[in-house]
Amino acid sequence: MAVVLVTGGAGFIGAHFCNLLMSSWGDEASSSNHLIVLDLMTYAANPDYLAAIAKRKDFTLVEGNICDEVLLRRIFDEHQIDTVINFAAESHVDRSIHDADEFVHTNFVGTYTLLKVCRHYWTLSDGMFKAGCRFHQVSTDEVYGTLMPDEQAFTENNAFLPNSPYSASKAAADHMVRAFFQTWGLPVTTSHCSNNFGPFQYKEKLIPLTIERLLNNKPVPVYGDGLQVRDWLFVADHVAGINLILAKGQIGEHYNIGGDWELTNLELIHRLCFMLEGKFAKQPELREHFPNAEAIVLGQSAKLITHVADRPGHDRRYAIDHSKLQALGYQPEANFDQTLSDTVDWYLDYFRDN
Ligand SMILES: NC(=O)c1ccc[n+]([C@@H]2O[C@H](COP(=O)([O-])OP(=O)(O)OC[C@H]3O[C@@H](n4cnc5c(N)ncnc54)[C@H](O)[C@@H]3O)[C@@H](O)[C@H]2O)c1
Repeated sequence: MAVVLVTGGAGFIGAHFCNLLMSSWGDEASSSNHLIVLDLMTYAANPDYLAAIAKRKDFTLVEGNICDEVLLRRIFDEHQIDTVINFAAESHVDRSIHDADEFVHTNFVGTYTLLKVCRHYWTLSDGMFKAGCRFHQVSTDEVYGTLMPDEQAFTENNAFLPNSPYSASKAAADHMVRAFFQTWGLPVTTSHCSNNFGPFQYKEKLIPLTIERLLNNKPVPVYGDGLQVRDWLFVADHVAGINLILAKGQIGEHYNIGGDWELTNLELIHRLCFMLEGKFAKQPELREHFPNAEAIVLGQSAKLITHVADRPGHDRRYAIDHSKLQALGYQPEANFDQTLSDTVDWYLDYFRDN
């Protein structure tokens, strides 16, 4: 029997993880497990992402803050939590540049509060930890800073050199996770993933933002020269990687999770333009749903791309070496163009209805 607390489970990646986890448990009648999602339901959350599992008896959604120790203790008192996976975060770099307060609270203080409560509830009278308990921290490759075009991809041995308030708050949290392991032996693992894409991502992030702008015939902003490189990871591969770490990862270790798909932001935006043009050409009904999408015509939509002043402290390149996790059996399975096309289809449905 597993009792799992997923924080931030109503956000983009957390919701994918929860849906995968519950499908692996089979139907609720045969499941002796329990999933508790704790989510503050910020602008980035959407309960619809959990619709497929929301009515199950082995599922509970709690609206609340990971910084709220009293609430955490109540959840641990009510449920014999043995696994915590911490997805909860403020996750948008631009917002952290505008105001970093919530990033420090949620990403650092929230992670510390979770660790503290886990340690309290999982420590036995002999000082050992309850068998099978685990805290998993979902971190980012951004903690490693930035790479030059010809530099080797980040490995887990790279020093932390965060450049934005967002990545600094994540790095600070990761240090605290490590300290709980080194000091008290709390059973922890950490993962550092690259840029995720897929359904459910909030519309301010690059892929949904580009799609929404194109559909509304608005300028598609590109920071600086647009040649910043990101390693794109389909969200299903990411959550499969986390599951693998939970099953086979070594306590106290951290693991990179990448998608092996490096692209500049400009290349990615051009691909989205091309895909939308193809879909509009094949499905004329899209014009009725999106009457403003005048520029989505073969060879035309890229004219909406507009270069804007670069983001301060903008990292030039991220690339992930995930051979450590590969040694445990990880391999990103997504076909990039197919999953990007499926993602575009999902957003076409989403933006038609929202
Ligand atoms: N999206 C990416 O490409 C990416 C890349 C690397 C790492 N990550 C990490 O993965 C995790 C999930 O990212 P995401 O893209 O799903 O983020 P998201 O912004 O879509 O979702 C975050 C979720 O956390 C919840 N939340 C925020 N503050 C909270 C608080 N104080 N208490 C409880 N819940 C709170 C939000 O309501 C939301 O549901 C984050 O830790 C992020 O740093 C994401």
